[in-house]
Amino acid sequence: MRRWSVIAIAIQTQNLAKIYTTDSEGRPLGLVDLTLAVESGQIFGLVGPNGSGKTTTLKLLLGLVFPTSGSGEVLGLPLGDPACKEQLGFVPEGPYFYDYLNATELLHFYGSLYRMGGSQLNKRIQEVLELVGMWERRVLKVVNYSRGMLQRIGLAQALLHDPELILMDEPTAGLDPIGAAQIRKVIIRLREEGKTIFLCSHLLKEMEPLCDTVAILNDGMVCRQGRMKELLAGEDGQYMVRVRGLSEELKGAVASAVSVQPEGEEHLVVFANDKAALAGADRLVNGGATVLHVGPQRRSLEEVFIDAVGGEI
Ligand SMILES: Nc1ncnc2c1ncn2[C@@H]1O[C@H](COP(=O)(O)OP(=O)(O)OP(=O)(O)O)[C@@H](O)[C@H]1O
Ligand SMILES: [Mg+2]
Repeated sequence: MRRWSVIAIAIQTQNLAKIYTTDSEGRPLGLVDLTLAVESGQIFGLVGPNGSGKTTTLKLLLGLVFPTSGSGEVLGLPLGDPACKEQLGFVPEGPYFYDYLNATELLHFYGSLYRMGGSQLNKRIQEVLELVGMWERRVLKVVNYSRGMLQRIGLAQALLHDPELILMDEPTAGLDPIGAAQIRKVIIRLREEGKTIFLCSHLLKEMEPLCDTVAILNDGMVCRQGRMKELLAGEDGQYMVRVRGLSEELKGAVASAVSVQPEGEEHLVVFANDKAALAGADRLVNGGATVLHVGPQRRSLEEVFIDAVGGEI
């Protein structure tokens, strides 16, 4: 018997545009044309250079600005419908809060906006502060927060009412590597709980392992979109060998390769198939080089991005 599974769509947009103005050459500024679908339970990444329209997209999805043209739905409701806001959490870029509140006071304030209160709110405040690693520092006032702490409390605020869909604008901007890794861990945990996460970022290395699906924006338009795995898949059947110590004398050992690319002290050598790659790796090892990895060829999100935006970063 054939089984059908229904894919729920959390966000969809159709030729969505928000044009603020035009530049000196008459080109539209803002979001020019966005058509996308975000499946429920996914981490969806919207990536693009500065000024490509990521924050504008978030503002449209949140109903903070209205489209110039096009349409969209969030959790089955038209853009801007206040009813869906109860199920939305938003982490703005560089969150800003009242300086003289501490973490629990701040979350009590936000909880009251969602008509939460009593022991249910106290319990939830503890849960979200533990989740973002701020429970121990709950009495510290916002004015004394580091950038990373502000970002964490921004996330706690967005999660307080246990929303289905969480929208985040550059959630790890300005964080140290440990802080950024902690936020990524929380994002993955949210997906495990079945939440949908819509992430905007220009940090491609961070988005690559995190997102299930990605759309690349450039000049307000989507130039590539698809499942991360499919976008990063290399040419059919090609294999790559990552090698250290590929000297001039050893170049003959990789003469049959499709391409040889230096990457710092290493080289990435791409062969037409697995057999050629294994034979090449053998020759490299016999010649004294160190083979670090042999496997199916895969592109990085950065390469896909550069290809998609025509070399401009
Ligand atoms: N309120 C506004 N008035 C006029 N132009 C605006 C306004 N907000 C954004 N823009 C313009 O719209 C374009 C898209 O801006 P947006 O903030 O959405 O980009 P972004 O991808 O979020 O950039 P960044 O990576 O720098 O955060 C830019 O050219 C910007 O100058
Ligand atoms: Mg932005």
